[in-house]
Amino acid sequence: METKVVVIDEENIDEGAVKNLEEAGEIIKNGGLVAFPTETVYGLGGDALNPESSKKIYAAKGRPSDNPLIVHVADMEHLQKIVTDIPDVAYALAKEYWPGPLTMIMNKSEAVPYETTGGLDTVAIRMPSNKIAAELIRKAGGYIAAPSANVSGRPSPTEAKYCVEDLSGKVEMIIDGGKVGIGLESTIIDLTVNPPMILRPGYITKADLAKILNEVDVDKTILDGNSKVAPKAPGMKYKHYAPKGNLKIVEGDPDKVISYINEKLAEAKNRGVKTGVIATKETADRYEADVVKVAGKRDDEAEIARNLFSILREFDDEEVLEMYSEAFDSTGIGQAIMNRLLKAAGHQVIDLEEA
Ligand code: TXA
Ligand code: MG
Repeated sequence: METKVVVIDEENIDEGAVKNLEEAGEIIKNGGLVAFPTETVYGLGGDALNPESSKKIYAAKGRPSDNPLIVHVADMEHLQKIVTDIPDVAYALAKEYWPGPLTMIMNKSEAVPYETTGGLDTVAIRMPSNKIAAELIRKAGGYIAAPSANVSGRPSPTEAKYCVEDLSGKVEMIIDGGKVGIGLESTIIDLTVNPPMILRPGYITKADLAKILNEVDVDKTILDGNSKVAPKAPGMKYKHYAPKGNLKIVEGDPDKVISYINEKLAEAKNRGVKTGVIATKETADRYEADVVKVAGKRDDEAEIARNLFSILREFDDEEVLEMYSEAFDSTGIGQAIMNRLLKAAGHQVIDLEEA
């Protein structure tokens, strides 16, 4: 299959862009696939109400089909058709955080095929704020099922070039809308349980949700690598984001972290292994790695979130085989950052305080 790549400027959706979006909408209506930008990460979109489209999405991603897809909508009126009864809290959360990086799980109606929900009676729904995404959803008939547009196991794409890398020849079209703003996948909240439970941390934090909900639970498996309990979001159990080399997280007093990592880097160099570090702006020039990546200023979690996935991909491109990362605060957006970083590291954490 030939993959057509089109560039659209979110801030200037001109006549040409509208034509491209119409073509993309037609592709999806006809059962095809289009990768498109959202504010979180790029999505791999197909018609959410067409079981054949969902099967194609799983095939293109190489993803197990018990891992449900998120249905993307553009307008509140579209909810009724896919949810049996919309809880009041969904309206309250939507009012505050939609369109935006929040996914809500509700009970699905018959309109949503089990192929889309991985066999579940619930459906995950999100209304993205990216204008290209919103227009595409409308032009495609209102319901786009879209996982992140990466091949299963790789970091979610934050730029179109990564979609091209992973999906060329597997989708009809890729819409290049530039670098995404947030860089981590949406927060997922399950509204079918009481109290509602966060299944995946994201840019919208527990504190944000607690402003609207009386009580919020967090799936215990989010930051715990040893948990024997399966995560509630099926997708959270799979190995994710892992770079080809070996990544370890080092935690503790900053000076000790730096000297520990430098010691390990020296050992790796002696073995002739190419090394990398995920550092902060404050510490970057103190590392002696072959490749030092600056995630951002330590107190700028939004910036760190935005850079994390592309850093992991760049390590692969530069064929780095042994990597160390500083740890980040695990509150606020930091919880989402640490959740993704822990997965990328296969939960290998060196805690220097414990040693
Ligand atoms: O930001 C995002 O959410 C991006 C963009 C493209 O919107 N999408 C995304 O989709 O991250 P994906 O497929 O990579 O992750 C969806 C997650 C998986 O962990 C899946 O198991 C969970 O949502 N999920 C979907 N439906 C669910 C359901 N009914 N119950 C529990 N978990 C569900
Ligand atoms: Mg994903």
